[in-house]
Amino acid sequence: MAGRIPQRFIDDLLARTDIVDVIGSRVQLKKAGRNHAALCPFHQEKSPSFTVSADKQFYHCFGCGASGNALRFIMEFDRLNFPEAIEALASRAGMEVPREGESDEQRQQARVQAKRQEEAVNLLELGTRFYQQQLASSAAQQAHAYLARRGLSNDIVSRYAIGYAPAGWDALKRHLGEKGVDENVQVEYGLLVRKEETGRSWDRFRDRVIFPIRDWKGRTIGFGGRVLGDEKPKYLNSPESPVFHKGRELYGLYETRVQAKRPERMLIVEGYMDVVALAQHGVDYAVATLGTATTEEHLRRLFRLVDEVVFCFDGDAAGRQAAHRALNTVLPLMIDGRQARFLFLPEGEDPDSLIRQEGGEAFEQRVVRAGSLTEYLFDHASQGRDLRRIEDRERFASAVLEGIGRLPQGLLKSLLMRELSERTGLERDTLEAISEGNARPAAAAAHAPQEQARGHEAGHREPPPAKASPRRAQGEATLSTSGRILHLIVHSPSLVDALPEGEAWCPEDDDGQLLQEVVRLVRAGGYRSSQVLLAHFHGSSHGSRLLALLRREPLIPGPLRHREIEVLVAHFEQQRQRLSPERELEALQDRERNGEKLTREEAGRLWQLICEIRR
Ligand code: UTP
Ligand code: MN
Repeated sequence: MAGRIPQRFIDDLLARTDIVDVIGSRVQLKKAGRNHAALCPFHQEKSPSFTVSADKQFYHCFGCGASGNALRFIMEFDRLNFPEAIEALASRAGMEVPREGESDEQRQQARVQAKRQEEAVNLLELGTRFYQQQLASSAAQQAHAYLARRGLSNDIVSRYAIGYAPAGWDALKRHLGEKGVDENVQVEYGLLVRKEETGRSWDRFRDRVIFPIRDWKGRTIGFGGRVLGDEKPKYLNSPESPVFHKGRELYGLYETRVQAKRPERMLIVEGYMDVVALAQHGVDYAVATLGTATTEEHLRRLFRLVDEVVFCFDGDAAGRQAAHRALNTVLPLMIDGRQARFLFLPEGEDPDSLIRQEGGEAFEQRVVRAGSLTEYLFDHASQGRDLRRIEDRERFASAVLEGIGRLPQGLLKSLLMRELSERTGLERDTLEAISEGNARPAAAAAHAPQEQARGHEAGHREPPPAKASPRRAQGEATLSTSGRILHLIVHSPSLVDALPEGEAWCPEDDDGQLLQEVVRLVRAGGYRSSQVLLAHFHGSSHGSRLLALLRREPLIPGPLRHREIEVLVAHFEQQRQRLSPERELEALQDRERNGEKLTREEAGRLWQLICEIRR
């Protein structure tokens, strides 16, 4: 396997890349003072709140909060993973991406691999065309009849590139063989099934209606195939392959994107047939997950295109269960301005059957009237509870709070808190206490809204320290001391200047080790940007840890952070010396009284001790 991409190379690459060029080639930029502005490509908007700074080599959207460097932009906009994004930038710059510990031979192999991937896409395109041609042939009469029975017009059939895989064992295999496509490649991308024991191979899809699954650029990456009758399995799907990942792709996404008008919302349904039947009746903004539950990645992708997603569920028990799962997945993504709604269909119906019965307009009415996330959250939490009883009300509150705890900071969160308080008659304080009880370490990223507001207080007047301290103790209770330092550094890497030289002061707990790594990196690279820092760790568990910390706004006002770090470092010093706080305080005060000048760390420590001991 390819080794890691050397850090030096990434730094060099970023230094040679101009973010204005990169973004300008994908989005129409307008010069606005020192910066460039554009309509944000990551959410829908009417006036531009997306800015690109050439000085900082950074983009930021004031509307949806998307931000980052050129690398991040490529990852988000072109939907690439980290190494792919590096590849893309490197090829622009005419550079070849080296891998750590890579021999010439391995480099050669990597080149072959990339070429094969391209071939694979071509191969899948060949497949799509073959199936489409077959649908036009006389052997496809039954398939035609089937599609007509399901109410699909030629227009929809061609918009979705629907085709037919002929009966028999090797029609596609022979076709691709004639085009010189290697059999192993056909197997790798799931077109052929090969039995290992005998080495015999045959077409995966036979006598089925074929739905090509396309990526956002419209390139075929896999297929779904439906039987014409009642045989089992009803649907066959391409296996995961180097180009096809079910947790990432959505059937119908490309087709909604090429529509002339941009949809206001996207509808998430279960099946291929649902998507095409909805489109047939004018609801051309539906996508289907591919036999998996909706993932966070699916939702992120949709929220880049629209501000509102509507989940569509069957009215049965399985549908309700799926809805609850979807709720938990979508909650952390509900930044201000986004909406999620839940549409439950009558039992026994799916979108396809329903829209065929009642038509497009009636169905759209259901979509528009679908319950909001808030309603669903409250409904779900109240099920089986008698809210006249105080214990049930508390349990209800606790269930709602669990959901609220997953929400990012914002309006929705505080509205829900208020609404919950009104519905239960419980005070905000009580609710917050229950919420603290709920909070497991992972969920603890949530702070109450008014604390959040403090974090943003970028004023120049320093609030009295004695007040800042207990708030911090509450909001960041679950972070270790090294975690707290790491938290602040992630938000403003330049704060490494507040740290002592060397690493002896830093403990070796998990966050401590990561902190050391981060500090080394920031010092070596002179980084000032959180995003660049994050890009270094992208894809690793360290990356997730740093991202979690970045999402969590520090409660310490900006001007006090430098000081805070010194205090935290002094805390380690003190721990090492194992002095009792009283004695330490005494010692420091003595030195001060003797006219000795304390270091900044010591002064910070003195301040902290005074606060602690007086309390
Ligand atoms: P459903 O069984 O709900 O089928 O599967 P459907 O979409 O209503 O299909 P029609 O109307 O009978 O044609 C929903 C989705 O689950 C996956 C497919 O992605 C399908 O679209 N599925 C279902 C499979 O992968 N394999 C199966 O055998 C069945
Ligand atoms: Mn169906």
